[in-house]
Amino acid sequence: MITQSSPSTLRFKEVRKVFVSQRGIFKQLREKVAVDNISFTLNPGETIGLVGESGSGKTTVGRMAAGLIEPTSGSIYYGGKDIRQMSKDEYKNYRLSVQLVHQDPYASLNPVITIGQTLTAPLVQHGFAESHDEARTQAEELVKRVGLGTDCLDKYTHQLSGGQRQRISVARALTVKPKVIVADEPVSMMDVSLRVGLLDLLLDLQRSLGLAFIFITHDLGVVRYFGKGQTCLVMYRGHVVERGETEQVITAPRHPYTKPLRLAVPVPDPSVARKRSPLPLRNVDVEAEMDTNNVCPFVHSCIYAKEECEQAKPQLVADQDDGHETACFFAEQIA
Ligand SMILES: Nc1ncnc2c1ncn2[C@@H]1O[C@H](COP(=O)(O)OP(=O)(O)O)[C@@H](O)[C@H]1O
Ligand SMILES: [Mg+2]
Repeated sequence: MITQSSPSTLRFKEVRKVFVSQRGIFKQLREKVAVDNISFTLNPGETIGLVGESGSGKTTVGRMAAGLIEPTSGSIYYGGKDIRQMSKDEYKNYRLSVQLVHQDPYASLNPVITIGQTLTAPLVQHGFAESHDEARTQAEELVKRVGLGTDCLDKYTHQLSGGQRQRISVARALTVKPKVIVADEPVSMMDVSLRVGLLDLLLDLQRSLGLAFIFITHDLGVVRYFGKGQTCLVMYRGHVVERGETEQVITAPRHPYTKPLRLAVPVPDPSVARKRSPLPLRNVDVEAEMDTNNVCPFVHSCIYAKEECEQAKPQLVADQDDGHETACFFAEQIA
């Protein structure tokens, strides 16, 4: 079946990213496969949640999606067109259309200019406002849109609270009228009491502006709230090991990695925490580098691992009934 891409569909096809760095006194070159062979399609207005522990490659996927770094191999398509084959104007449109909201708004906002300047500069630079007055009016609308008062336009970053700063990061991303937002751990540095407010704001913007989201988090509770009814990808060491509807992935995980990931969610009550059974993981050095070409990337930590898991790499296979995909040879037996 041939499906026509919408002008703002973002697609990853077998995308891989290998970082090469120098290590040790002899400056040996070391390769790190941060993202291995990832494919997905993000349609307008949809969300793809990316979950996984720290170092699993989530940010690298987000930065490639936003065009900040290039894949080592594989292709990224925007509006059906390979971004490497775009004309200058098409590429500019793609870069503006996919905006990143970082985890740390303090680091991503310029501290020496006012919030007003932070918002008016991209409006003028990219031709969304013709005069400074027009840019200022649009900036006022944007801060109101993210739930803040216009008085914050004359303030500097350090004069705002953490929650307000993150709202300004969202407003700045909106200045260039994006179609896709890559939200990389957008609430993880915020006070717990303010998180739901920001997530509700993002959901409201998604509905009213038809925005698509790549929503990155290590917190399953957060993706469950934001990505209900949408697709969730579970990443482990650069691989997608499970993919399905968010609620299903979280409440009925099928990959041996997703099960402990769910159980590792902290419980505030120590007496409940003490009664928990130990995580179903083998205790191994998970930092060790391994060649995952012909082996399951999770094999060393998996309590269900068998000989087959060291002889070939399991690919994502869809369940015939519900389409939920798992990259595990024994997913059905251990379910
Ligand atoms: N610029 C870089 N150079 C070398 N290694 C990197 C670079 N960026 C990320 N990595 C490595 O790639 C892996 C994935 O990182 P990242 O995408 O930041 O994971 P996550 O966001 O899931 O924590 C990590 O092992 C990290 O150390
Ligand atoms: Mg990250």
